[in-house]
Amino acid sequence: TVYEDQREASVAVARRIATLIRSKQARGEQAVLGLATGATPVGVYAELVRMHRQEGLSFENVVTFNLDEYYPMLPTAVQSYVTFMHENLFDHIDIRRENIHIPDGTLPLEEIHAYCLNYEQQIEALGGLDLQVLGIGRTGHIGFNEPGSAPNSGTRLVTLDDLTRRDASRDFGGKENVPRKAITMGIGTIFKAREIILMAWSGKKAPIIKKAVEGEMSSEVPATYLQLSDNVEFVLDKDAASDL
Ligand code: GLP
Repeated sequence: TVYEDQREASVAVARRIATLIRSKQARGEQAVLGLATGATPVGVYAELVRMHRQEGLSFENVVTFNLDEYYPMLPTAVQSYVTFMHENLFDHIDIRRENIHIPDGTLPLEEIHAYCLNYEQQIEALGGLDLQVLGIGRTGHIGFNEPGSAPNSGTRLVTLDDLTRRDASRDFGGKENVPRKAITMGIGTIFKAREIILMAWSGKKAPIIKKAVEGEMSSEVPATYLQLSDNVEFVLDKDAASDL
C-alpha cells in the first residue's frame, strides 16, 4: 500500500494496531505484538501514544516482543533499543512492565543460545505473534537478519554488516563505537507472525524496496523471503515506492 506521505501511512498502521488490540480486549484476550526500532516506526508509536492519551486506548492486554538489540549493550545506554522503546512508546502508555520483552544485550556469551530458545518459547506459549511490525535496513535486513540469513533462522546472535554499522554510526559517534553483533529474532520467527507489516519511507529506501518486492529471492537480500508469505504487507510512502 502506497501512501501520500509517512505521516498518513503511520496513522494507518497505528489504527490497525489499535483495532487489533481492541478486538482482543473485547474477547478478553491478549494482543501479542512484535515491535521494531529505528526511525521508521517512530510515527506509529507517536500515534499510539496519542490514541492512549486522547482516545483511551489501553495497552493493559498487550504483550510485546522486540525484534532485536545490539550486543553487547547495556539497557541504560542511550543507544540501546530498551531506551528507544521506553522513550518512544512504553513510558507513555499503560503497558504492564512484565509484558515487555526486548533481547538482553548484557548476557554472557555462553548463555545466549539458551536465552534465544527461551525467547522463542515465550512467544509460542502465548500462541505466537498476532502482528509483526518491521522496518528494513539498506542491506535488506529485517530485524538484524543480515545478508546470509537463512529463511528458517530463529532468534540468535548475529554479526552486523558493515553497511548497517555505517548507517548506525551517527547514533554512536563513529562506526568504531557501533557494536559488532546483535541478538535478533530470526526470519523464521518473523514468518510465524499471523500478520506482517513492513514499513519504509523516503527515496533512500527505494532501491532496497525494489529489490525486496521485485528482486529474485535470495539470502543476499533477506527481505526477499517475505515474498513467500501471504500475510505480509509493505506500507510505503510515495518516495520509498518510487522505483517499483
Ligand atoms: C536497524 C534495526 C532494524 C530497522 C533498521 C532500519 O538496523 N535493527 O529493525 O529496520 O535499522 O532503520 P531505520 O528505520 O532507522 O531506517
